[in-house]
Amino acid sequence: MGLNKRKSASVTKGPMPAAEHSQSGKKGTILITGTDSGLGLAFVHKFLSENWIVFAGWILPDSPVRKIDSSALFPVCLDVTDLKSIKTARSEILKRTQSLDILINNAGINPDKDIPLEKLDFDMVQRVLNVNAVGPLRITQQFVGLLRKGSLKRIVNISSEAGSIIDCRRKSWFGYSMSKAALNMQTRLLQNYLGPKGFSVYSAHPGWMRSGMGSPLAAFAPEESADRLYESILEPSRKNKPQFFQLDGKPMRW
Ligand SMILES: NC(=O)c1ccc[n+]([C@@H]2O[C@H](COP(=O)([O-])OP(=O)(O)OC[C@H]3O[C@@H](n4cnc5c(N)ncnc54)[C@H](OP(=O)(O)O)[C@@H]3O)[C@@H](O)[C@H]2O)c1
Repeated sequence: MGLNKRKSASVTKGPMPAAEHSQSGKKGTILITGTDSGLGLAFVHKFLSENWIVFAGWILPDSPVRKIDSSALFPVCLDVTDLKSIKTARSEILKRTQSLDILINNAGINPDKDIPLEKLDFDMVQRVLNVNAVGPLRITQQFVGLLRKGSLKRIVNISSEAGSIIDCRRKSWFGYSMSKAALNMQTRLLQNYLGPKGFSVYSAHPGWMRSGMGSPLAAFAPEESADRLYESILEPSRKNKPQFFQLDGKPMRW
C-alpha cells in the first residue's frame, strides 16, 4: 500500500544543526519509521512534547506528520523496503545531525489477518516479511553509524505478541506472525553484535491499539501506547530489564 503512495525523497523542513542541540536544551535525537499514522505518529507527538529532535519517516505524500508545525521536527520520505529511499533519507538527516540517540523501527503492515493456509497469497506474505522484518534490518544497517555516535545507542523494534513462538495460539496471520518472530530474532542477533559496543536493542509490544492496523474495539489508543512505551524505552535502568517487553515494561515471552 505504502509503496504506491510513495514519492521521491524530499525534505519539508528541518530542525537546528546538531551542534546547537545541547545549547537548545533538547534531550536528544530520534528517528522513527512509519509515522503517517497510528503509533508512529503518536510517538512523534510524544517525543516532540518531551523536547526531543525528531526525524520522522513518511511514505504518504500528504502525511499528517508533514503538517505538524515544529522546528524540532524533520519529516523525511523513508520507505523501509527501498534501500535507495533509506540512503537518500540518511543523507538528508546527515545535513542536520551527525548522531542519533534512539531508533524506533515502527513501520509495519498486517494485510493477511485471518487468511487461511489454503488461500494464502505468497506475494503478500513476502511483502509483509519485507516491510516488517527485513525493513527494520535495512534501517538499522544504514543508521547504525549515526547511532554509534549517539549517547543512548538504543534500537527499539516494534514487535507484537503475535511474534511470540511460545505463546502462539493463532492458526493464521502467517506473514505477520512470522515477520514479528523474525524481527524478534533480529533483536537478539543485534543485541549480541552491538551490545558489546554499548547498544541496547529491544523488541516492544505496544498492546492491541485502536489504529488502522488494530481495531476500534482495541484496548489502547496509540497515544496511550506511545506514552507508556516512552517511559519503558527511556527508563535509565533499562539495561537490566527484559529485552522483549510490553508497554508497561513487563517481559514478553519470545
Ligand atoms: N495495532 C495494533 O494493535 C498492534 C499490535 C501489536 C503491534 N503493532 C505494531 O505497531 C506498529 C505500528 O502499527 P499501527 O498499529 O500504528 O499501524 P498503522 O497505523 O497502520 O501504522 C503503520 C505505519 O507504517 C507505515 N508503513 C507501511 N509500510 C511502510 C513502508 N514500506 N515504509 C515505511 N513506512 C511504512 C504506514 O504508512 P501508510 O499508512 O502510509 O501505509 C503507517 O504509517 C507496527 O509495527 C505494528 O506491527 C500494532
